[in-house]
Amino acid sequence: MAVIAMKCPEYKVTVVDVNASRIDAWQTDDLPIYEPGLLEVVKAARGRNLFFSTDIKAAIRESEIIFVSVNTPTKTFGEGAGKAADLQYWEKVAREILQESTASKVVIEKSTLPVRTASTMESILNANSRGIHFEVVSNPEFLAEGTAVKDLLEPDRVLIGAQQTEAGDAACREVVDIYAHWVPRGRILTTNVWSSELSKLVANAFLAQRISSINSISALCERTDASVAEVARVIGADSRLGARFLNASVGFGGSCFKKDILNLVYICESYGLNEVARYWESVLQMNDYQETRFVRAMVRGMFNTIVGKRIALFGFAFKADTGDTRETPALYISRMLLEERARLVITDPKALGNAKADLADALDRVELVEDPYEAAAGAHAVAVVTEWALYRELDWGKIYDSMEKPAFVFDGRNILEHRRLFDMGFNVYPIGMPAMKHFSI
Ligand SMILES: NC(=O)c1ccc[n+]([C@@H]2O[C@H](COP(=O)([O-])OP(=O)(O)OC[C@H]3O[C@@H](n4cnc5c(N)ncnc54)[C@H](O)[C@@H]3O)[C@@H](O)[C@H]2O)c1
Repeated sequence: MAVIAMKCPEYKVTVVDVNASRIDAWQTDDLPIYEPGLLEVVKAARGRNLFFSTDIKAAIRESEIIFVSVNTPTKTFGEGAGKAADLQYWEKVAREILQESTASKVVIEKSTLPVRTASTMESILNANSRGIHFEVVSNPEFLAEGTAVKDLLEPDRVLIGAQQTEAGDAACREVVDIYAHWVPRGRILTTNVWSSELSKLVANAFLAQRISSINSISALCERTDASVAEVARVIGADSRLGARFLNASVGFGGSCFKKDILNLVYICESYGLNEVARYWESVLQMNDYQETRFVRAMVRGMFNTIVGKRIALFGFAFKADTGDTRETPALYISRMLLEERARLVITDPKALGNAKADLADALDRVELVEDPYEAAAGAHAVAVVTEWALYRELDWGKIYDSMEKPAFVFDGRNILEHRRLFDMGFNVYPIGMPAMKHFSI
């Protein structure tokens, strides 16, 4: 919304949320989320045509176009628990829009929603006897956290799905007009509503599948003399495959991939497409395997016991350049290491606040420190879990000197210079490449 406000000065954009502390924070320079470049965008429009408020009712009444971007987490109860999307927040908003509106509006699904949600929402919204018409348009968001501003300013594509009726076409044009302020027309794709809803789920499923595919190969590389980095370079040179998203790692996290695949699996199951459901489910299974495998390699590498050993986790965010820790592999890894009775010290430039909340029940066994050197001092092992660029730039000689010996590095993101660390004295365990050890067991 901040980017829309910045690029479309003649539109008045009001962001509303039930969470008052988030709305307060949006009005300061200490934004509620960390995203490179976002503060500048917000500042360019805030107070001009970008406003933040908790008065949801007034914003509904005043607006002609409403983007609904509420959370759509995985359902944790009842039918479809653990898989289906929980649509209670979305439906609540739809009912509020219905109640407060005094004129017809375009309602945009910005949240990621299961296929056919728009028609459900239209049924709710158009169940009024006041002659008000609501046109529901799907406009899924493809930004990635950490590069959100760049992705919004230069999107590969914007997707708008509308009903193929006169009113649907008109609503679609209204949404196209917004994005056309800065996105070339050729990158604004229009489809029917269901294709649009499904495309968002499928895009995330394909991205996650690519990570699981390379991660599955990383396991094989570790058993052979192959290097997953070399395999990725070779297959990525094939223009049909492309080079991006081929980094083997501890696995994917974030609030979207897992939830959207579970949702896709649930939808396939509900149409009786069990083979299709199992196929996509395996992408998640491979991700769990990769996280577990990483911890197993740590325990095995450190002589089959890590009881009482101090282990420094470098990074807790689910990826670099964000403070978001939802579904972060770091949390699963932390829990498994604690299960093995290790002592954890976690460092992260942006995610320590969230880490503290995520591990609230284990803070007697977990230290959270800002400084990576302090985190590593006295540790038996450092495990790189998030690919923050700063970890590559550290003085690893200084880190080595401060650690218990033998010292271990488990590079869960393959961002370090493995040979150099090995030559310093570290025992180095990359992902998808044979370990480099100074002893033979
Ligand atoms: N985070 C991403 O990178 C990303 C990318 C693409 C799509 N999405 C999708 O966007 C949606 C939102 O994701 P998010 O990460 O921003 O979630 P979030 O939980 O961070 O934000 C959702 C916000 O909606 C507010 N909210 C809930 N009910 C409300 C109501 N009735 N009225 C007003 N506000 C209400 C919450 O207080 C919260 O601040 C999800 O469907 C997600 O799948 C997210």
